Amino acid sequence: MENTSIISRISNALFGNKNTTTITIDEKGKTTMKIGIISGSVREGRNSAAVSEWIHEFAEKRNDGGIEYEIVALANYDLPLLGAKLPEERQAAAGAAIQAWSEKMASFDGYVFVTPEYNHAVGGALKNALDFLKPEVADKAAGFVGYGSLGGARAHENMRVILGELSVATVHTTVNFSLMTDFENMSNFVPNDYHAGNATAMFNELIKWSGALKTIR
Ligand SMILES: Cc1cc2nc3c(=O)[nH]c(=O)nc-3n(C[C@H](O)[C@H](O)[C@H](O)COP(=O)(O)O)c2cc1C
Repeated sequence: MENTSIISRISNALFGNKNTTTITIDEKGKTTMKIGIISGSVREGRNSAAVSEWIHEFAEKRNDGGIEYEIVALANYDLPLLGAKLPEERQAAAGAAIQAWSEKMASFDGYVFVTPEYNHAVGGALKNALDFLKPEVADKAAGFVGYGSLGGARAHENMRVILGELSVATVHTTVNFSLMTDFENMSNFVPNDYHAGNATAMFNELIKWSGALKTIR
């Protein structure tokens, strides 16, 4: 059953619907879309934690009826390096971590990857974590939030190539924080207000594509 609010319908009639999203609600009125906000660094003291909290709070304030947002901290999953030989005593825990990571990623309809840039690319920990996945993320959509000297832009372009191989559709608009002007001492996150514009556009695109792709899975 499709459930569009009266305000959305009036707004669509007056202004067109290019910036609104129709969310499908199941018969019991429960959430039908889940978006994971993936905090993509495992470094001790990582900036990804504050940036992920900011974008999560931003998402919650949108009041997208029927959409649940959840932060997933990659650092909470003690993933082994893909294919590496492990001592026997570590094998069970590593297997459990891989399973938990795969199940968590499979539970979402779309993703916001919060990525730093390491040597003009996505960080090694996130690349390794993505290498464990394929059917869990296939035919879903992703948006990007980054930070760095150029806002993590090169990591995002790198992510588009990786996610393309995993059959994930990546949306156009990205949110790019500068380590110089959106952080104090490159570690205390104090974002400029103007990022709200791109964050809004990114979520609008992500919700639209996540909803569309849900219909073909
Ligand atoms: C090995 C290394 C390479 C880096 N390479 C880049 C880079 O290419 N571009 C950039 O903008 N920042 C680069 N940085 C800075 C990181 O993006 C910055 O430290 C960021 O806070 C890391 O994210 P995190 O704190 O969430 O781990 C690099 C940092 C390290 C340690």
